Amino acid sequence: MDRIEITKANKFKGEFYPPPDKSISHRAIIFSSISKGKSIIKNFLRADDPLRTLNAFRLLGIEIQEEGENLIVNGKGLHGLCEPFNIIDCGNSGTTIRLLSGLLAGNPFFSVLTGDESLRTRPMARIIKPLREMGAEIHARAEDRYPPIAICGKRLRPIDYTLPISSAQVKSALILAGLYADGETTITEPAKSRDHTERMLPEFGANLSVEGLKIKVRGGIELHSTEVSIPGDFSSSAFFIAGALLIEGSEILIKDVGINPTRTGFLRVLKEMGADIKIQNTKTVAGEPIGDIHCTFCEKLKPVSINREMIPSMIDEFPILCVIATQASGTTTIRGAEELRVKESDRIKSMVLELRKMGVDIEEYEDGLSIHGKCRLKGTTLESYRDHRVAMSLCIAGLIADGTTTINGISSVNISFPQFFDILRKLTS
Ligand code: S3P
Repeated sequence: MDRIEITKANKFKGEFYPPPDKSISHRAIIFSSISKGKSIIKNFLRADDPLRTLNAFRLLGIEIQEEGENLIVNGKGLHGLCEPFNIIDCGNSGTTIRLLSGLLAGNPFFSVLTGDESLRTRPMARIIKPLREMGAEIHARAEDRYPPIAICGKRLRPIDYTLPISSAQVKSALILAGLYADGETTITEPAKSRDHTERMLPEFGANLSVEGLKIKVRGGIELHSTEVSIPGDFSSSAFFIAGALLIEGSEILIKDVGINPTRTGFLRVLKEMGADIKIQNTKTVAGEPIGDIHCTFCEKLKPVSINREMIPSMIDEFPILCVIATQASGTTTIRGAEELRVKESDRIKSMVLELRKMGVDIEEYEDGLSIHGKCRLKGTTLESYRDHRVAMSLCIAGLIADGTTTINGISSVNISFPQFFDILRKLTS
């Protein structure tokens, strides 16, 4: 039975290491596979999504060994991948399918990428259009809108492309295609999305520069192996930050978390709401800033207004922010967030429907929502829509609700955070 029953929690107390970062785990596998030599990946996230990327590279002929906690990737260089013997199943992972499409567009063989029911309804025209401008031969279902995607790798030419939407997946797909293009590719973002690709690729020797919202990458340059240490995932930590803020008497310390500013808009918003959150012990590991996050219960949370510019740096924290907003004294409004409709589920709709079932007064807009706090949540039966972040957000809501909250489709937490319930038990026992 794929469901869980949650009742009111004891306070959160203690310290823990969050799971390794999902976005950075994908990139570590991809970049080390197309570099020459043995790369070591420390603290790789063994969860469904990044394991899809790992399996994809095994199908593309890359030897990847597990050595204790570490992964050893025997990279074969930019031109070392082989034609896969089967279709590549990307499961639920948007990062796998989009980044691989960019990479495979410049590799001289045939490949087909597909995924689960959710992934097969996620928009792909956003990568297909610019990749075609680079000379790629790439086709997809429903007039190039949805997976499966079929690619016949070709020689690519560089482009100067401005992204219509801020997306790290699209940006990274084009950077990867740019590694294979004859000359310099320029990509401009409308607003800064997570920049893990730009930080990590130069560590492998890529010729990549960033100036404001402009990224330039030179094609045809061989990459070399390196060692990558993956920081803790800020987005996974966000569920526990929320729990500590909302459950009376809580105090937690989350260790070695990635605090890259392109990811931590959620912290800036929580501070505006009046939360007491401290970052301690900061350092830089493999080009990424990390630190320990100390967080305590917050008696009085203020409502906030979130606009379009703030969305990219907190794109994955929307479901959990909705739960926090139910406990703020006043109306929290989130606008300019239509991208949330095309995530693992339509996250605006998912959160509106499920929080309403718990008794929350909530309005839905095409590009966001308004939540009227402060609201006493009531336990009931909820759907996760098999969206990992919706599932974990509803669990936190269940911990502060009256009665019992049943959440269906709970195994989706394995997409990004298989140890979610172990940490929850540890903090509440
Ligand atoms: C990701 C980018 C974001 C994010 C996703 C992971 C990445 O998606 O929502 O969970 O690893 O590049 P978009 O680029 O589609 O906004």
